[in-house]
Amino acid sequence: MTGDQICQALEDLRRNGVTFELILNRAVDLLHRSNSRFHWTGIYELFPDNVLRLGPFIGAPTDHVFIAVGRGICGTAVAENRNINVPDVAKAPNYLACSTSTQSELVVLIRKGRKIFAQIDIDSHEFNAFDPDTVTQVEKVADWLAEAYASASSTGVS
Ligand code: SME
Repeated sequence: MTGDQICQALEDLRRNGVTFELILNRAVDLLHRSNSRFHWTGIYELFPDNVLRLGPFIGAPTDHVFIAVGRGICGTAVAENRNINVPDVAKAPNYLACSTSTQSELVVLIRKGRKIFAQIDIDSHEFNAFDPDTVTQVEKVADWLAEAYASASSTGVS
């Protein structure tokens, strides 16, 4: 599935009144299955105490359920307000290991304007797994989710 197709599937769920939690689960599931190089796919949500908390994920269990802003690739992406594509995690000094099989990692922020709601984190067992088109596909899903987070928070649903 392309990023656009994933967004369409999520939009269909939203129109049918599916809960936000289930939409997040489905987003992770569809993303994970969209690319054979994705070996761990998850969403970390940013909490007001500046800690990322692991939400839905597919792949090996990780010790990194909570990550402070500024720590690891995930926390650095928030601290620097940017997406981070790491082609070789062994060369990233701030990398927090989830699995010894992971070779590359992509973090794409779920943000609208200045507000960061969460992030999509993907690990691959291949080096340099995230080419520009792959990143674009993930960004499309992140942008759709940002709109969903924005409307969920404005209606008090989370
Ligand atoms: N590698 C991440 C930690 C999360 S696990 O990969 C799931 C990091 O460096 O922040």
